[in-house]
Order: sequence, then structure tokens, then C-alpha cells
Amino acid sequence: AQTVTRTPDGVVSVGGIDVKKLAEEFGTPAYFLDEADFRARARAWRTAFGEDADVFYAGKAFLSRAVVRWLHEEGLNLDVCSGGELTTALSAGMPADRIAFHGNNKSTEEITEAIGRGVGRIVLDSFQEIVRVAHIAESLGKRQRVQIRVTVGVEAHTHEFIATAHEDQKFGIGLADGQAAEAVRRALALDGLELIGIHSHIGSQIFDMAGFEVAARRVVKLLAEIRDEHGVELPEIDLGGGLGIAYTSEDDPSEPHEIAKALNEIVTRECESAKLRTPRISVEPGRAIVGPTAFTLYEVGTIKPLDGLRTYVSVDGGMSDNIRTALYDAEYSVALVSRVSEAEPMLVRVVGKHCESGDIVVRDAFLPADLAPGDLIAVPATGAYCRSMASNYNHALRPPVVAVHDGEARVIVRRETEEDLLRLDVG
Ligand code: LLP
Repeated sequence: AQTVTRTPDGVVSVGGIDVKKLAEEFGTPAYFLDEADFRARARAWRTAFGEDADVFYAGKAFLSRAVVRWLHEEGLNLDVCSGGELTTALSAGMPADRIAFHGNNKSTEEITEAIGRGVGRIVLDSFQEIVRVAHIAESLGKRQRVQIRVTVGVEAHTHEFIATAHEDQKFGIGLADGQAAEAVRRALALDGLELIGIHSHIGSQIFDMAGFEVAARRVVKLLAEIRDEHGVELPEIDLGGGLGIAYTSEDDPSEPHEIAKALNEIVTRECESAKLRTPRISVEPGRAIVGPTAFTLYEVGTIKPLDGLRTYVSVDGGMSDNIRTALYDAEYSVALVSRVSEAEPMLVRVVGKHCESGDIVVRDAFLPADLAPGDLIAVPATGAYCRSMASNYNHALRPPVVAVHDGEARVIVRRETEEDLLRLDVG
């Protein structure tokens, strides 16, 4: 569904507009998001999982009001993890009952707001939160639908996973030592809570489906234990997000329908053998929907060749608009997009303009040897966790997000200005 093409003179165009025009109109650095591609990916998830399941887009990957409207129109639900994300979602018209609220340390204000506005579910992350949410719901005269987030002992990395007995992390309540069963006991006993299901999220940028299968199996086993102990069959399970995308040509991600098929099969099989009704499944993809739909456009500035080693290509952004390379050693690719070049490829490192040597956007890549200041280069697959983790380091102005669709470009998050920075500095 991606509408990125290259014209005969080598200028790349997206959604029918060439990048030179985009740079002229919106400046650089900027994120350009292909709306048709976003909608197609959202729809593919929705279609793959069908009417008997729910897809909650994980807003942490990238959230704006336009995105919320697209998701609403495409029939997706939304996962938020802060009061800020909740406010954005509600202000763009996402019905509260289609919102799930996450987080390991939700504040009293956030919980009160979420329950008061009628969010569809709160995902309980700790023993203290079970009580906290129940009390707030009761004080508001409500019964809040909740899931309990359990840690299933699956450590998922990009191309592998490890199943362990215990999990050493801040999120969720452990399955292995009976803590999750105890959490269920407590939640079922509280009037303010309606326990509707169990939640598991095993990690992010995952390619190996086996991790999800182990997680699903362990969650279904807990459902069977709950049925045996309490005589209730919880109606829902959520298997979280985490599906990987292709950052470079070496990555080969699964399609939503393959993921849906694998998850449905494993849950159905496990439920049959435990003689449980199959629960309604939900998932929470963030990166897999928005990641591939945007690229960052930069203008090349200083070029510093180091003989026999590599050439440093400095761009007008950096770790303030993409922290992922510095933070996770993430891999990206890069392309010259404002012209064609017949020149030999040279080994480059694309770096930002920040006062830090770790300020790397693309660690190793090839660009034509005739690269010059003023050329435009694009880094693809920056739709997820780039704008949403952008910072003002060195008082950088966070770039805009521009949605491109059918020959039209529209700013959906505007560029920050120096006035924005000074407005916060009241001093
Ligand atoms: N559901 C829950 C409960 C999550 O914690 C997350 C991500 C998701 C869903 C969505 O995961 P996704 O489908 O996007 O992988 N900043 C990191 C990723 C952190 C993910 C945190 N949780 C990065 O840039 O790679």
C-alpha cells in the first residue's frame, strides 16, 4: 500500500508529491507519513483478526488526533498508557469504551479520569493497583472492566525467545510463583472491578512467533485454573503487541493474517484441550502499523571523509528526532532521494547535529560518493517511536509530522518553534 515511487530524474515522491517540494514547503528535518499506507495496515490487522477479536493500536508508537480519527474510521481500538495519551484519544473522538488504559504506575488522577470518562478497560499491573482502581471505581459509583497483566516468563528478542520461570521486570504480575492466581482472587473479590480477562505483552520488534505461542499457552492454562478454582471462565485474553517490522532488507516480518492465524490456532487448540470456551482475543500492535508508514527527510550538511575508514554525513536533525540508534543500537537504512547519482557508493555514518558523539542516525550505510551539502536523504521506517520519543536536547525544535495522501500534504503535528521552547521557560 505504500505510495513511494521514484521519478525518472531520481526524485522520490510519496503520496504523489516529490520530496523536494515537501522539503520546500515543510522544511527539514520532518517526518512524512503515508496516510493510505497507515490506513491499509490498520485495516489489514482489523480484517485478519475479524469480528471475534479486537485490535488495539498502541498509541505509544505514535499518537496524534489525525491518527486517532483514522483508527476510529478503520474500526480499531486504542491502547493508551498515560493521561496525555488518553486526553489526545478522547479529544479526537475515540469512544472511551474502545480505549484500554495501561501503565505500571498510573496516578490517582489518571485512574480517576479514565474511570470517570468510561474507558473500556484498565489493565491492572500490580497488587496495589488492584486495590487502588477498585477503590476509585467504588467511590465514583462504578464497576470498572479490568484485565490483569501477567508476566508469562517469555523473554522475546528480535529473532529468538527464551522461556523462563520468572521474570525480572517492572511490569505485570508473575505467573510462575502463583502471584497471578492470587491477583485474580483479589480482583474477583472487589465490587469495584469486573475482571474480564488476562493480559500478556512479551516484548517488541519480535519475529519469532514461538514466543507468542508459549505466552498464549501459559495464559490459557491460567484461565483453566481460574475456572477450576472460581467457576468463572474469563471472556477475554490480550496477547499484547510486539510484532517486528523491516528496518533493513534483512528483516522479514510476518503479515497480520499469518499472526492472526497462528494466535487463533494456538488459543483454540489450548482451550479445546482444557475444555474452555475460546475467549475473545485482542492484540496491541503499535510499531507494525505505524512504523513502516513514515520516513524522516533530512538535508545533508557537513561531510567529513576519513580516509580508508568511512565518511561522516551530518544532517540537520539527529538523536532528538530518532533516539533509537543511540538507545537500542537500532539499524536503519538511508537513501539519497533528491536526485539520481551514478557515483560509486561510499561507506557512510549518518550523524546528527547534537553535542554528543553517540548522536548517530544510521550507523553503517552506503551513499553515492558525490553526495553534497544540500542533498536530501531519507531514513525509512521511522513512523514508530521516533516522533513519540523525540526530545528537545540542545533545545532542538521537534520536527513536524506531515501526512501525505493522494497528492496532498497536511501537517498533523506542527514543527516546534523557539516560542514554544520559551513559553515553558518561565524564569
Ligand atoms: N502493548 C503493550 C502493553 C506495550 O508495552 C507495548 C510496547 C505495545 C503494546 C506495543 O508494542 P509494539 O507493537 O509497538 O512493539 N521504544 C521502544 C519500544 C518500546 C515498546 C514498549 N511497549 C522502541 O523504540 O523500540
